Amino acid sequence: MTQFKHVKDSQVDISELMLPSHSNFNGKIHGGYVLSLMDRIAFACASKHSGAYCVTASVDTVDFLKPIEIGELVTMKASVNYVGNSSMVIGIRVEAENIRTGEIKHCNSSYFTMVAKAEDGKSLQVPGLILSNEHDIRRFAKSIKRNKMKLNRKQEFHETDFSSKEYVHLLDEYKVKIEQ
Ligand SMILES: CC(C)(COP(=O)(O)OP(=O)(O)OC[C@H]1O[C@@H](n2cnc3c(N)ncnc32)[C@H](O)[C@@H]1OP(=O)(O)O)[C@@H](O)C(=O)NCCC(=O)NCCS
Repeated sequence: MTQFKHVKDSQVDISELMLPSHSNFNGKIHGGYVLSLMDRIAFACASKHSGAYCVTASVDTVDFLKPIEIGELVTMKASVNYVGNSSMVIGIRVEAENIRTGEIKHCNSSYFTMVAKAEDGKSLQVPGLILSNEHDIRRFAKSIKRNKMKLNRKQEFHETDFSSKEYVHLLDEYKVKIEQ
C-alpha cells in the first residue's frame, strides 16, 4: 500500500555565512558554490521524504536574481513540490540577509529533480505527498506542467526527428549566420 507523507515532514532550512573563500574576483559569491549548497539541501529534503539515498537527476531554471555578498547570511529553504514513482521535485528558495541592516533579498529559486535509489542502485518507489494548502497544490500542478513542457521540448528537438527547415525562419531576427 502506498505510504503518504506531508510536505512539512521533509522541509529543510539551512543558513550559512558567506566567507571570502566563497567569492569570485568581484567579491561576490560564486554561483557554483551556491549551486553546491542547493544540491546538498535538495539531497537532504529528498532523502527525508523518501527515507533513501538520492541522486540528482536534473536541475531546472537557476536564475541568479541578485548577487550575494561576502558576510551575508544565506538561508535556503527546500520542500518537496512533486513526487513521481522514484523521482521528487525539490523546490529551493535562496535568500541572503545583510546582518547589519536586516535587509533580506530573494537571490534565487530553483527546482532539483532527485531520484531515490535502493542499495543495489535501482530506482526506488517514494512515498506519496499529502498536499495541505493552496501553495502545495499550486507547486504540484506547476511541476506537472513543467515536466510535460520538458518532455515535449525533448521530443520536438530530438536529433533523429529534427528538420531545420521547420525552424530556420525563427533565426531570422537573431544575430546568427548559417554557413552549412
Ligand atoms: C537520474 C538517473 C537515476 C535516472 O536513471 P534511469 O535509469 O534513467 O532511471 P529511470 O528511467 O527508471 O528513471 C527514474 C526516474 O528519474 C526520472 N528522470 C530520469 N532522468 C531525468 C531527468 N533528466 N530529469 C528529470 N527526471 C528524470 C524519470 O522520469 C523517473 O521518474 P519516475 O520514477 O518518478 O517516473 C540516472 O540517469 C543517474 O544515475 N544519473 C546520474 C546521477 C548523478 O550522478 N547525479 C549527480 C551528478 S554530479
